[in-house]
Amino acid sequence: MKITLTVNGEQREADVWGGESLLFTLREQLELPGSKNACEQGECGSCSVLLDGTLVCSCLVLAAQADGHDVVTVEGVAEDGALHRVQEAFLAAGAVQCGFCTPGLIVATVDLLDHTPSPTDDQIREALSGNLCRCTGYQKIFDAVRAAARG
Ligand code: FES
Ligand code: FES
Repeated sequence: MKITLTVNGEQREADVWGGESLLFTLREQLELPGSKNACEQGECGSCSVLLDGTLVCSCLVLAAQADGHDVVTVEGVAEDGALHRVQEAFLAAGAVQCGFCTPGLIVATVDLLDHTPSPTDDQIREALSGNLCRCTGYQKIFDAVRAAARG
């Protein structure tokens, strides 16, 4: 089936099969490999995107469900060609090691700060609880989120 969706502000089209995930369509058809496929079971958050402004695991959303909707991926959070302050904060804090979790964490953090500009540590923990990182031990990720919140 043919679908039309808005991805990072651009109207895009894809020809998908009924069981195809939004993650697969983004990565394999729309040339947006930023969202990562680490578990494909909704467990790790590495595929996180915003669907009509709601944070979702794109591996759990059918591409067909995104027909007519608005998707923002990690490729779409940069502003005016410059990295988003959350991306800058992750780099500055050294919150990136292998980087596999990073796109999902960036999207989840952007979403958190859009709704809660000055989050407490508990709110950060809760907001990022669906994003697993195998490398960093989370301390530097928390440092990055706090720094991004401070602006
Ligand atoms: S790849 Fe989607 S949650 Fe892990
Ligand atoms: S930096 Fe490797 S999984 Fe998070």
